[in-house]
Amino acid sequence: MNLKEQIDRNSLPRHVAMIMDGNGRWAEKKGVERIFGHRNGVESVRQVVEAAGELGVEYLTLYAFSTENWNRPRTEIDGLMALLTRSITNETKKLNENNVRLLVIGNVSDLPKSVHKQLMQSVKFLSKNKGLTLVLALSYSGRWEITDAVKKMMADAASGKLDPDRVDSETVESYLATSFMPDPELLIRTSGERRISNFLLWQLAYTELYFTPVLWPDYRKEHFYEAIIDFQRRERRFGKVSGKSRALLNS
Ligand code: FPP
Repeated sequence: MNLKEQIDRNSLPRHVAMIMDGNGRWAEKKGVERIFGHRNGVESVRQVVEAAGELGVEYLTLYAFSTENWNRPRTEIDGLMALLTRSITNETKKLNENNVRLLVIGNVSDLPKSVHKQLMQSVKFLSKNKGLTLVLALSYSGRWEITDAVKKMMADAASGKLDPDRVDSETVESYLATSFMPDPELLIRTSGERRISNFLLWQLAYTELYFTPVLWPDYRKEHFYEAIIDFQRRERRFGKVSGKSRALLNS
């Protein structure tokens, strides 16, 4: 039985988050510049978007550019920004054919104007789609997001819109950039690193973590299926208790 057929469509994670890592090392191993790793990573993005969409996963969040990535050499940042704009421009039609909705989380005002403009155009163009929601985390970090939420909450408290005595975890969630979607049930990180690296810090509280040694540019649909199958094995071990009730048991 092939990998895809082993997946139980009735117990899919609704939301999968991914840390796409290892582009640089992939390029170094081949003796080429880092940007070639990023370029080859675009095919891996295509593969996971297609795989998630075909399976019926509702949300796929990809860590495409972190707040910390701004500290990389200027040439790499410029190369990545150009690649992002080009990829979004080229892929929008295909994303639309596949019924994909696109959203962005992060401090997008930091992005170069051209990238920002193309992103917003594509987000608008794809906004009516009802299939997979692809969320790109750009100029994103979990600490940035929580700090931003705190600032907004304090402003609302100061203007009387928010009563500090009534703030609970749902209130905090409603101020996060991810308030429109459920927390991820599964986080996949490639390249053998086993860290969260400032990604979705609040949202990963009860998420299953899956690490693979595969470098991002080598990542294919089959690797995604393997991660889902592994996730479903873990789920089955918990019997009927899953999702939020499991989180309560763990807490
Ligand atoms: C991490 O590898 C990867 C990134 C910082 C960028 C990811 C971007 C893409 C795959 C490009 C296209 C994206 C979209 C959404 C179209 P790394 O450079 O940190 O690798 P290293 O740890 O081996 O140095």
